[in-house]
Parts: sequence; structure tokens; C-alpha cells
Amino acid sequence: MRTEFRKFYRPGVLWALALLAAIAGTMITTSEAQAEYGDVVINNHSDAAGMRPVVFPHWFHRVRFRCKVCHADLGFKFKAGGNDINMVKIIDGQFCGSCHNGKVAWAVDSCDLCHSGKPGTPTQVHESTINLLVTPGALTPAPAAAGKR
Ligand code: HEC
Ligand code: HEC
Ligand code: HEC
Repeated sequence: MRTEFRKFYRPGVLWALALLAAIAGTMITTSEAQAEYGDVVINNHSDAAGMRPVVFPHWFHRVRFRCKVCHADLGFKFKAGGNDINMVKIIDGQFCGSCHNGKVAWAVDSCDLCHSGKPGTPTQVHESTINLLVTPGALTPAPAAAGKR
């Protein structure tokens, strides 16, 4: 009786374990992907101007455009906060404004979509799991210094 019970249920248990492992696997993959997102917080001027810092989702853009589009053609320097961006330039079609013009992507009137950071967040790039694991502010990420040129 007991053996029959086991025979009947064991495959079910194995399936359940396989399913759990699969789910756990997906979760691990997802969190690794997030760690790689590399969102750039740009806050050279925003806080001072009373706006939320800008969060630039680098990965989101990287899957849509080649590096060259932004870092060669549009002239973005490879440095968080290393481009002196402001709204006049953006509205003039430079930097974010070469795409966020209502044609390639939504226009500048959606302020909150770009100015979405937590007030006071320094200019930085979140590119490693370390940034996600440490207490915010416990480490001073190197690019933050770059932002305070
Ligand atoms: C496509 C993204 C984007 C949108 C949309 C956007 N901004 Fe900005 N904005 C930026 C970036 C990038 C900076 C530079 C951030 C920094 O260095 O602090 C900036 C800087 C600023 C600054 C400080 C520099 C300056 O130009 O005075 C102000 C104020 C500002 N934005 C206001 C706004 C307002 C108001 C709106 C909506 C009408 C808006 N922004 C929409 C990306 C955007
Ligand atoms: C849609 C535009 C866009 C594309 C495409 C893009 N980047 Fe960037 N990248 C940026 C912006 C904006 C910043 C931040 C600049 C700033 O803060 O002024 C940046 C920052 C960087 C930085 C500096 C991060 C740091 O540690 O300070 C590196 C490195 C970089 N990008 C590499 C790449 C590579 C490699 C690719 C292609 C796989 C790529 N980028 C594609 C816009 C882009
Ligand atoms: C080469 C073109 C290009 C440049 C340059 C560019 N963007 Fe974008 N961005 C896009 C496109 C395309 C989308 C997707 C628009 C859509 O879904 O309608 C997008 C979407 C976004 C989003 C929304 C992401 C999401 O999860 O939906 C944010 C925020 C954003 N951009 C901020 C910025 C900021 C800030 C800059 C400048 C530092 C910038 N972008 C520069 C093309 C660009």
C-alpha cells in the first residue's frame, strides 16, 4: 500500500521540484538581468533646478540602438554625468532631444518619464550587483565624483 502510494506520487513530486527549479532559474536570470540594466542617474543640474534627477535606462536603449548611434553620431561621452545636458540643448534636438522629439520617441513634454529619480540621488551608474546590495550611500560610486566636476 505504502509503496504503491510512493510509486504514484513520486513523479508528481519530481515534477513539482522541476517546476520550482525552473521558476527559481527564471528568477535568478531576471535578477541578473536587472543587475546589468545599468541605469544612469544624471543629476548635474536637476536637484539644483528643483527637478527630480534624470534616470536614463541604458539597457532599454542599448537593445534598441547600436552604441555608435549615441556614443559616436550623437556625441554622448562614455561617462555618467559626463555630458553637460540641459533642456535648451534637448529642445534644440541635441542629446536626448535627437530622439525624444515626438518622432523617434515621445517628446519632452513628458517631464516625469525622464525626471523620475529620487531627489538627492547623485550622478552615477548602477551597473553591478554591488550597487543593489549595499545600503544606499554606503559606497560612493566612482562616477559620482565625475558628476561633481
Ligand atoms: C527625454 C528626457 C527628458 C525629458 C522628457 C525632460 N528632461 Fe529635463 N533634463 C533631461 C536631462 C538629461 C537633463 C540634465 C540632467 C542633469 O544633469 O541634472 C535635464 C535637465 C533639466 C533641468 C535642469 C537644467 C536646465 O535645463 O535648466 C530642468 C529644469 C529640467 N530638465 C526640466 C524639465 C521639464 C520641466 C521637463 C518637461 C517639460 C523636462 N525637463 C523634460 C532630460 C529630460
Ligand atoms: C540611446 C543612446 C545610447 C546608446 C544606444 C548607448 N548608450 Fe551608453 N550611454 C548613453 C548615455 C546617455 C550615457 C550617460 C551619459 C551621461 O550621463 O551624460 C551613457 C553612458 C555609457 C557609459 C558610461 C557609464 C559609466 O560608467 O559612467 C558607457 C561605458 C556606455 N554608455 C557604453 C555603451 C555601450 C557599450 C553601448 C552599446 C552596447 C551603449 N553605451 C549604447 C547613451 C547610450
Ligand atoms: C537614439 C534615440 C534615443 C536617444 C538619444 C534617447 N532615447 Fe530615450 N528612448 C528612445 C526610444 C525609441 C524609446 C522608446 C519610446 C517608446 O516606447 O515609445 C525611449 C524611451 C525612453 C524612456 C522610457 C523607458 C521605458 O522603460 O519605457 C526613458 C526614461 C528615456 N527614453 C530617457 C532618455 C533620456 C534621459 C535620454 C538622454 C539622456 C534619452 N532617452 C535618449 C530613444 C532615444
